[in-house]
Formats: sequence, C-alpha cells, structure tokens
Amino acid sequence: MTKTKLSIMLCVFVVFMGSKGSSLGVNWGTMSSKQLSPKSVVKMMIENGFDKVKLFEADDKILEALIGTDIEVMLAVPNNMLQEISQNPLAAADWVDANVTTYCYSGGVKIRYVAVGNEPFLQAYNGTYLQLTLPALKNIQEALNHAGLGEDVKATVPFNADIYFSPESNPVPSAGDFRPEIRDLSIEIISYLYSYGAPFVVNIYPFLSLYSNVYFPFDFAFFDGPNKPMRDGKYVYTNVFDANLDTLVWAMAKAGYPDMKIIVGEVGWPTDGNKHANIQNAKRFNQGLIKHVLSGEGTPAWKGVLDIYLFGLIDENAKSIAPGSFERHWGIFEFDGKPKYELDLEGKGRSIGLSAVEGVGYMEKKWCVLNPHVKELEDLARNIDYACSLSDCTALGYGSSCNHLSVKGNASYAFNMYYQFKNQHKWDCDFDGLATLTHEDPSDDKCNFPVMIAQGHSVVLLHKNLLSIFLVILEGCIVFLLLFC
Ligand SMILES: *[C@@H]1O[C@H](CO)[C@@H](O)[C@H](O)[C@H]1NC(C)=O
Ligand SMILES: *[C@@H]1O[C@H](CO)[C@@H](O)[C@H](O)[C@H]1NC(C)=O
Ligand SMILES: *[C@@H]1O[C@H](CO)[C@@H](O)[C@H](O)[C@H]1NC(C)=O
Repeated sequence: MTKTKLSIMLCVFVVFMGSKGSSLGVNWGTMSSKQLSPKSVVKMMIENGFDKVKLFEADDKILEALIGTDIEVMLAVPNNMLQEISQNPLAAADWVDANVTTYCYSGGVKIRYVAVGNEPFLQAYNGTYLQLTLPALKNIQEALNHAGLGEDVKATVPFNADIYFSPESNPVPSAGDFRPEIRDLSIEIISYLYSYGAPFVVNIYPFLSLYSNVYFPFDFAFFDGPNKPMRDGKYVYTNVFDANLDTLVWAMAKAGYPDMKIIVGEVGWPTDGNKHANIQNAKRFNQGLIKHVLSGEGTPAWKGVLDIYLFGLIDENAKSIAPGSFERHWGIFEFDGKPKYELDLEGKGRSIGLSAVEGVGYMEKKWCVLNPHVKELEDLARNIDYACSLSDCTALGYGSSCNHLSVKGNASYAFNMYYQFKNQHKWDCDFDGLATLTHEDPSDDKCNFPVMIAQGHSVVLLHKNLLSIFLVILEGCIVFLLLFC
C-alpha cells in the first residue's frame, strides 16, 4: 500500500470515528478589516465546545490552525469559482487536491463536507449560477471520489430558504414546494446529493422574516413566545423556524425524498443595525434554538436531532451591508473575540459565560473625535460621509446602539471608526481640522467607541520587517559583489 493510500485511509478512519449523533456547529466568516489569530480562535472554539465549523472558503491559515483538532469542517468553493469548476474537471481536481487532500491525513483536519457555492440560487443573483451549480457539484464530488475521499467527504450546496415557499393563498408548511422556475433543477440536485448520501443544506433566518414584514408576529420568531400557534392539519407550530423547515420537509417529500438528510447551514440573530437586532433578542433566539434542536424533538413533521451551524462566530465589519446594516453584527463574539452574551451550548438553559479569544492585542487607548472647540461645522456632513464610507458606521442608524448620539456625537463616532480602521495614524485624525485626539473613552453604556485590535497591524509590520531585513541582506550581497568581482 502506498503512503498516500494509507494516509487517506487513516483520514477516513479518523473522520468516521469523529462523527457523533449531535453537536453544535458555527459559521466562521472572515470579512473583517482585522483578523484574530486563527490559532487563538480555534482554541476558543474548543474551550466553548463548538465541534463543527463551516468556512466560506478554504483559508489555509484557518485550515492549518484546525490541524490535529476534533472539529469537523465544512469548507467552501466560493461562488466566483463556480464557472471554472463547472467547466473544468481538472480545476475541480486541483481544488480538491490543494484544499482537501492536503489536510486529510492522520492527525490532519477532519473535513466532512465541501460546500459548492453559497446560496447560488438566491433571487438577488438573477440566475447567474443556476446552470453552473450542478456541474460544479458533480466535478467536485467526482474529484473527491478520485482522491479516495468520496466515502467520508461529501460535496453539497448550501441553499437559501427562498428556493421553497408556500403559496400566499395557503401559507402552511404542508403546502410547501420548490419555487416553480427552479423546481426541476432543485430536484435534480437533490437526487444527485441523495445518490451518494450527501445532506441537503439550507440557511434559515427567522430574523429576516421579522425584518422584512412589519406584520410578522414578533414572538413567533422565537421559541418561547406566548404566541398564537399556527395550525396545519394535525400539526401545531409555535415558531417560524419549525414552520420554515417543515415547508422544506414537505417540498422534499413531494419530490420523492422524504428521508433526505437536512442540515441547517446558517441560523442566528444579529445584535445591532436594526431595531430588532440587539443582545437581548439574539440571546433569546440562539438559546431557544439550541435548546430546541438539541432536545431531539425535531419539528412537527420531522423527528430527530437536527445538525445546525450558528451564524456566526465573530462580527465581520467589512461585510456588504446591501441586505441591511445588521449584516456586520451576526457574531456571538465581538470583533475582538469577546463573547457578547451568555450562551449554554449544551442546551440545558444554564447561565454559562462563553470563553473569549485569548491573547488579543489592542492598539493604544486613544480615540479620534470632533474637536469641541471648532465653530465652523459646514464641512461636517461631508466628512462624516467620507469617514463612514471607508469604515463601519452601522451602529449609528435607526434602531442601532449609537442612534441616540447627537450630530456631534455622530461625527465623533465616524471619525473614530475611520481612525481605528486606519490603524490610528495621526494623519488619519484630521478631517479638515475638525477632529482631535483624546485619551478619554467617548463610549457610553449603550454605544461603544472601539479601539482596534493590533494583530492585523503587527502582521503587516512583521512582513515589512522581514522585507527590510531581506533588502539589507541583498544590499550587503550587492556591495560584496561590487567589491570583489
Ligand atoms: C483552494 O481554495 C481557495 C478558495 O477557497 C482558492 O482560492 C484556491 O484557488 C483553491 N486552490 C486551488 C488549487 O484551486
Ligand atoms: C440583478 O438585477 C438587478 C436589476 O436588474 C440589478 O440591480 C442587480 O445588480 C443584479 N444583480 C446581479 C448580482 O447581477
Ligand atoms: C446620526 O447618523 C445616523 C446615520 O447616518 C442618522 O440616522 C442620525 O439621524 C444621525 N443623528 C443626528 C442627530 O443627526
């Protein structure tokens, strides 16, 4: 037996041993201006008991940090690679080789799933990925099979819940079906996934139901509400999560796949950027959800323990806010790895504080604010807009944590965010002379003026130092050559 075959078998064996009945997963997105050290984040995940993680790419630094851990991994082929992967089986093989096989050895990374694309049928994409998804999925799964990993690493596709629906005339789960224009295609994909035992992955967001519909009954978004239940034949629904999932269960059954394995790839609640997005609601939702799914009672139409991946691990301050300002506030943890609220990940409802990411370095405790002595304020709005366009002012909007600030408070907040995003360079705290530095924290009990973390910065410095050392050595060599040749 060759060494690679042996290591593949070991990988497969380890993966098999690692699979448990139920556990809690989390999505780890990295669209942030500064990254925490992947090793410290992985350590924090282990301490808190997250044992599955979903990544949006195959980030090598993150994968390296996961080597030797028991955390099961779903990694992803991003949407912008679907075209190439769908057309070129060799590109798929290269992708699998570099991003999966490399890490699949005894004591390596427990890769269980490859997500091919992310919500590729989202209506907002105007059909761009409709014809690419199934061919890309097939190419990736075949590449996994050729690499000898097909039994234990399954390719799948995380879908948005808008691929299925119930008609307005009969809005109950049992009337559920796939959207007519993509019904055949969805069923073709399901049939392919089913053929090799891959799960169907769906993202479900009760927060968005509440956000997008002012008439939505508030408590129905949660799991403990004193709410009016919804009836559907013999089934009674007390929360929208179950109703949504069962709409899929019914659609799946109608398509002829009543026993398809379903995983919830993203579910969660943001803490800022909207009037419903706050810590109290996020904790209520996530704690209720965890308790509900880990109880094993399932949904009215589906019994068993559901696999879920919470969204998300850490706030991402550079995410697009096209869907809404809340997009940058989905984290259970702040940008600096501090937990936002208590959460019992075992679902027993105990008051348990989560462990923070350790060893986080911060920049100096100083803030850039509006100079209280300036009188000429006509350039203020323009400067605020500029600062916000290059940083993150989502906490200032209606219903957000800093919405109570005055115009001047807004200016200080915007100037500070820009200054922190720019690593506290003094020339980034000017704004036509409107701004000044302070060592006094301008935060109040609701609105936090953050000081940026230092990791990203020090990494840049380190690279610079290495480069300058290299240049010095190079100079030395050139001098040596000039002198002696
Ligand atoms: C590995 O995956 C990442 C994205 O997830 C991609 O950028 C990279 O090109 C992949 N490697 C290969 C060889 O395809
Ligand atoms: C989809 O179409 C709309 C309207 O035609 C357009 O505004 C939007 O940019 C398109 N989105 C993509 C991803 O092509
Ligand atoms: C502060 O900025 C936010 C976001 O731009 C805006 O909604 C709010 O009205 C501003 N506050 C004042 C007092 O101008």
